[in-house]
Amino acid sequence: MLEKLDALHTDFKAQIVNCTKQADVLNLKSQVLGKKGALSEILKSLKDATPEQRKEIGPVSNNIKQDIEKSVQAKLTEIEIGEVNAKLAENKIDFSLRESLIENGLTASGMHPVHKIQREVEDIFLSMGFDVLDGPHIEDDFHNFEALNIPETHPARDMQDTFWFRDMKHLLRTHTSTIQVRGMESRKPPFKFVGPGKVFRCERTDTTHEMCFHQLEGMMVGKDITVGNLIYFMKTLLKEIFKKDMEVRLRPGFFPFVEPGFELDIRWKKPDLKKGESEHSGWLELLPCGMVHPNVLRAGGIDPDEYNGFAFGLGLDRLVMVRYAIEDIRHLHSGDLRFNKQFKSF
Ligand code: DAH
Repeated sequence: MLEKLDALHTDFKAQIVNCTKQADVLNLKSQVLGKKGALSEILKSLKDATPEQRKEIGPVSNNIKQDIEKSVQAKLTEIEIGEVNAKLAENKIDFSLRESLIENGLTASGMHPVHKIQREVEDIFLSMGFDVLDGPHIEDDFHNFEALNIPETHPARDMQDTFWFRDMKHLLRTHTSTIQVRGMESRKPPFKFVGPGKVFRCERTDTTHEMCFHQLEGMMVGKDITVGNLIYFMKTLLKEIFKKDMEVRLRPGFFPFVEPGFELDIRWKKPDLKKGESEHSGWLELLPCGMVHPNVLRAGGIDPDEYNGFAFGLGLDRLVMVRYAIEDIRHLHSGDLRFNKQFKSF
């Protein structure tokens, strides 16, 4: 009987290696372990065996049974994994888009227009001797408000306008002016730098408002800086961007971190001309700026009796929209490649 069991085991092992389908494995299992299977048949004859023989055969047949069950389970898993891998190889999902990138190149759908303008503006300022600085998206109250002379009662601090973290100490920066503070902390005057990046406001979105948009901050600090210096750099920037001399005007504008503060407008061809109106009659508000408030210099560790400076905050999305005649700011963050692809050749 022991030989029979042994033969059955060997035979089973030989057969299971050749199984390629789960159904074959299950068939084999029932042929061996099923009610009318080979093992049951052998064990039926146990009733004629002596008690000693039973004692011997019992554990052996149990071991064989367990071994067969284990092999069946292992084979079923092996076949399942093989099938899944084969399916994956057939219908490849390239989560990384690696192959698409290799095939089409990194800029397959064109560089994002905001990124492109940002780089252009950075280059213009680099050529004028400015540094390009970065700053964190998650800021604290000091860098976003306090050091910028924004009082606690200012509406910009409102829960409705700003994305605060639960600790009510951190927030998503609402402007790149935070980089002014970080820039002052990290260098000694005279200096000049720009700081581009994303900013966040709790806005109801529409064609001209987004919850996330882009600014480029600028700051120059030194001795005897004047509004004339500010206008010079702004006009040079605009000339480079629009490839022609731009007429600008300054209007008074209020921002707690500058004094005096201005809105810089450019003379702009109105898109919706009324009858008899000159096409040059429009002014477009482009960039807020001003002379850095003494309190801001002080918060940055700079003596306002010795140094002064100017600062500006350029809205990059606005610039993109003007340059490419984009009617809705929400396209910029839509993630829709049909939008991005249009800028491939720019
Ligand atoms: N931080 C201002 C805003 O987001 C923009 C701004 C205004 C920046 C005047 C400046 C400035 O540097 O001088 O509304």
